[in-house]
Amino acid sequence: MRVLVVGGGAREHALCWKLGGERGASEIVCAPGNAGIARDFRCLPADAGRPADVVALVERERIDLTVVGPEGPLTAGLVDSLGAAGHRACGPTRLAAEIESSKAFAKRLMAACGVPTARSVTCTALSDALGVLRDERFGYPVVVKADGLAAGKGVTVALDRASAETAVGEMMVDRRFGDAGSAVVIEEYLRGREASFFVLTDGVRARVLPSAEDHKRAFDGDGGPNTGGMGAFAASPLVTEAMADRILDSIVEPALRGLRGEGRPYRGFLYCGLMITDDGPKVVEFNARLGDPEAQVVLPALDEDLLPHLWNAAGGAIEPGAFRVRPDRYVGVVLASGGYPGAFETGKAIAGLDDPALRDGAQVFYAGVADRGGALVTAGGRVLTVVAGGAGFAEAREAAYAAASRISFEGMHYRRDIGVRAIG
Ligand code: AMP
Ligand code: GLY
Repeated sequence: MRVLVVGGGAREHALCWKLGGERGASEIVCAPGNAGIARDFRCLPADAGRPADVVALVERERIDLTVVGPEGPLTAGLVDSLGAAGHRACGPTRLAAEIESSKAFAKRLMAACGVPTARSVTCTALSDALGVLRDERFGYPVVVKADGLAAGKGVTVALDRASAETAVGEMMVDRRFGDAGSAVVIEEYLRGREASFFVLTDGVRARVLPSAEDHKRAFDGDGGPNTGGMGAFAASPLVTEAMADRILDSIVEPALRGLRGEGRPYRGFLYCGLMITDDGPKVVEFNARLGDPEAQVVLPALDEDLLPHLWNAAGGAIEPGAFRVRPDRYVGVVLASGGYPGAFETGKAIAGLDDPALRDGAQVFYAGVADRGGALVTAGGRVLTVVAGGAGFAEAREAAYAAASRISFEGMHYRRDIGVRAIG
């Protein structure tokens, strides 16, 4: 089978790597990919946000199955366009992907089908939003969210009314996130620990992947600004088998039923961002895809081929249950450019990538890299994810950090405490 992976980050590299090691895939192609992925897989230029470009590529390359990594192409309607042209794609349609691209829709869906989540209101007028903050119905802290996609920056946890008002003003008046902030969701602050729960679904049945936890803050001890994710580990110790059953019964199944009822059947990976509270698991957000960096630790943990299940999910006939998983634990550390998530320089030479000690026992998944005369240089904020497995989290951490220590580039920074939470 000829498979196309759409996207160009470390998550997509992990997908290529996983599928490339399987019997069913005759060739893996990535579009647009990046210079690091291109070391092992054929990468083709394409604007992943323009469905017509990708459809043309699928036809030119005689692709049998397209797997979409990021939310942008899903929201642009890539799966709809591929389907209309008669091509099989694993991922939700544009309307189904609104579970991620419109927080207002996700909240309405959850309310309609009884999925546990933070109490919230959606406001489309500034005066309404300010009124909600004034009447203190959710207390403080309170969470203010832009309705639409905002590259992970559209959520503010406000400790008091003044900062909540500032957040609302930035979204609705300054239009910091453009149309994404035309509506805002204001919601109750949930206390607990976060976990990421993933299923692959055909819209009716779901197959459960290993759970994970990511580390969103820039610095050790969860300090500093939010980032796209500085590391992750799998599986989350919070998601026991009993907890997984509870999440399936109270969250995944009602949400899939609700989406079908809305005429938006959902196929592909569904990511449930959860707060495990004293009252049980509650949804913080849904994403219409695998997480990044979670995918980099979840995919190595699978102990069976993924491709047949991607094919079946896309075709509406997935085998329910849980993926077979390895007994090992996995830790992934993101190596980032100096200054990230703020301003950073690019074009720094990356040393140590061909260290044989690195190749042995750890995986490097590339994100923000470019080719300069046959060598890789930095080209983004999150440059790469180093992943290793081990019998326990301590062993996995040791292996991941031993590998990370072999790599260097000017300004490089990374967290030293990825996975510590799983041990402590
Ligand atoms: P989101 O983009 O919706 O995942 O939000 C980003 C982060 O904000 C989440 O990962 C949580 O850490 C935090 N967050 C969002 N909503 C809530 C909430 N209702 N209560 C507590 N924390 C939240
Ligand atoms: N790791 C969070 C995300 O992919 O949205």
